[in-house]
Amino acid sequence: MSKVMIMDHPLIQHKIGLIRKIDTGSKDFRQMISEIAMLMCYEATRDLKLQDVEITTPICTTTVKELQGKKLAIVPILRAGLGMVDGMLTMIPAAKVGHIGLYRDPETLNPVEYYCKLPADCSEREVFVVDPMLATGGSSVAAIQMLKDKGVNNIRFMCIIAAPEGLKKMQEVHPDVDVYIGAMDDHLNDHGYIVPGLGDAGDRIFGTK
Ligand code: URA
Repeated sequence: MSKVMIMDHPLIQHKIGLIRKIDTGSKDFRQMISEIAMLMCYEATRDLKLQDVEITTPICTTTVKELQGKKLAIVPILRAGLGMVDGMLTMIPAAKVGHIGLYRDPETLNPVEYYCKLPADCSEREVFVVDPMLATGGSSVAAIQMLKDKGVNNIRFMCIIAAPEGLKKMQEVHPDVDVYIGAMDDHLNDHGYIVPGLGDAGDRIFGTK
């Protein structure tokens, strides 16, 4: 079963409180989404494996730690996931970035891929799929399935706010995917918005409300 980590770091909690406020404008909202993503990335990479390597300092040779194993990739789900990329790259600047865009078919209501561009070696990387809001779970679950269908198997999912309904779906469909959550909210309303939530994350990041 996957790991679910709800981030209790005081800085993350404080910043999430700020982005929930209705009167936080786009500039501050965007900035704080990026800062939260950076802090969450720091926490979510705690278990990356290290290896010993021998180096020479100006004084002598010694053994230091360096990251071992798979390289990383960040895959934001368009459009709101884009807001988390800069913060993640601040922590892991060598990561490659892929993009997945989905829309909901108005008749079947199924998510349909309209854009997918991934690093060529994505299946050899540890992939962080990012979307600020895990609401019904429809698009996140579908995006992860699309990655799996393309041979990517080492996937973690990171969101800033989750609804119990979305987390349940994620765990049912992708029990192998570790989930990192900034705050666990109460429920979804009849319009599919997370309560108490923060409104439409994409509109608030890009000022399109
Ligand atoms: N997407 C959002 O941006 N906000 C919600 O509350 C739910 C889905």
